[in-house]
Amino acid sequence: MTRVFSGIKPTGHLTLGNYLGAMRRWAAVDQHRSDALFCVVDLHALTVDHDPARVRRLSRQAATLLLASGLDPELCTVFVQSHVDEHARLSYVLECVATDGEMRRMIQYREKAAREQRRGGSVRLSLLTYPVLMAADILAYGAEEVPVGDDQAQHVELTRDLAVRFNQRYGQAFVVPRATHPKVAARVMNLQEPTSKMGKSDDTGPGIVYLLDEPDVVRKKVMRAVTDSGREVVYDREARPGVANLLEILAACTGGSPEALGGAYASYGALKRDTAEAVVEVLRPVRERHAELCADPGHVEKVLREGAERARGMARPTVDAAYRAIGLLPAG
Ligand code: TYM
Repeated sequence: MTRVFSGIKPTGHLTLGNYLGAMRRWAAVDQHRSDALFCVVDLHALTVDHDPARVRRLSRQAATLLLASGLDPELCTVFVQSHVDEHARLSYVLECVATDGEMRRMIQYREKAAREQRRGGSVRLSLLTYPVLMAADILAYGAEEVPVGDDQAQHVELTRDLAVRFNQRYGQAFVVPRATHPKVAARVMNLQEPTSKMGKSDDTGPGIVYLLDEPDVVRKKVMRAVTDSGREVVYDREARPGVANLLEILAACTGGSPEALGGAYASYGALKRDTAEAVVEVLRPVRERHAELCADPGHVEKVLREGAERARGMARPTVDAAYRAIGLLPAG
């Protein structure tokens, strides 16, 4: 069976972008057709200024939302990154095949480093090496596929480069993975700034639909989405990014195509109303299941404990083999 790995970072409340771009497909498709692992990547949340209590809270919430979105621990492995030492162990070794220049070229590093500097903060070294840790997450499990939104494409490309380089220099240790992206909603945009991604750690709250927003809050955010001065509802990402974003969201929620849906609307108002209702309906079961799971925190903890144990068993042989291959003396 195909081995699949993906992760989600607890740096903010999870958004409609996380759900449509990644989580929904993990639950609907990936966990059924593959041997899949889904991870709350908490170490990654320490790469920017953070509050320890908040990271802990968000990690628990992200794990609960993964289960609420339909991941079934009988079918896949759900766990927290820091519970499995192999990620950090492998990351160091991969740093020894990655280059400084490669890291500095990463778009997300450049954007996030600039943002930290604008806020007057300093840039953590771990922000620069973040993509290496992400490569370790994937390579430790021999994952063949990495289902992600398209903002992660460059990181997965780097993971491939590191795997190939390591294998060529030190012998076949890693499977070379590939990213898979959803057909629609691979990049859900901010409703207030439709040329920027809807990101969970952004500051523009009204442009971000959170998975746990109340239905009326979702409606309000969608109804206030920025569109443009035209009147015709057509799907054109370049010229009409706001409308295109709504059409993509609607298509992702209802199963249609954004182009065809564009022709079906006479006004922006009607498009917004239908999109709002579609989003409310898609999120309803997730919110309901989340509330049930919150009433039984012991269950989530048990899933994570068992998941980490399973994950450790899968990662250790690969990481041990990489340590031997690169020249480290076995502990005996
Ligand atoms: P993160 O936590 O930012 O996002 C989790 C997943 O959600 C997708 N996503 C989106 N998709 C569509 N539109 C959006 N607006 C949107 N926002 C987020 C992301 O593409 C991702 O699939 N570096 C990763 C976490 C990570 C990881 C990994 C992923 C760490 N190690 C190993 C895969 C494999 C990240 O920050 O995702």
